[in-house]
Amino acid sequence: MYQTLTFLHSTIRWFVLLSLLYSIFTAYRGYFNKASFTRTDNLIRHWTATIAHLQLMLGIILYTQSPLVKYFWKNTGETFNDLEFLFFGLIHIALMLTAIIVLTIGSAVAKRRTEDHQKFKTMLLYFSAALLIIIIAIPWPFSPLAHRPFFR
Ligand code: HEM
Repeated sequence: MYQTLTFLHSTIRWFVLLSLLYSIFTAYRGYFNKASFTRTDNLIRHWTATIAHLQLMLGIILYTQSPLVKYFWKNTGETFNDLEFLFFGLIHIALMLTAIIVLTIGSAVAKRRTEDHQKFKTMLLYFSAALLIIIIAIPWPFSPLAHRPFFR
């Protein structure tokens, strides 16, 4: 169960990143070309938020199953001074929750905007902010916070 969850959570990270990059590119192009917000643009907005929500669900389940997180909460006296434990116990979840809230607000606000120009602008700003936070919070093999492989 834990292995499967880690594999899925690690793999879906690439879908989160690719969908966000594509959404940001779409919003940038639409905004600067003063294009109309098409049904396809709306689907891209919708699916980007949905993929991120799927990753959020997996993250929450993984959080309840992870031996690392369990150890973190049982031994807070010692684990609060260890960056690896602190990262998976608190930093990762706090940053990722913030990113997904920003993304969700951006998606909802863009959906409700009446002008196409404003829809693209909202998507561009909120999705870029979410992407930046997600990039910082991923345990890349080169991250100074905690490292995990690119692929499981
Ligand atoms: C866009 C959102 C997220 C992305 C892109 C993401 C990405 C990742 C990646 C790449 C890993 C390393 C996987 C590996 O071991 O190979 C990881 C680990 C983990 N993530 Fe996330 N994550 C996200 C959101 C969350 C959330 C919201 C939670 C908790 C509610 C969470 C909980 C965890 C836990 C507990 C681990 C590691 C567990 C362990 O090593 O035992 N993640 N995440």
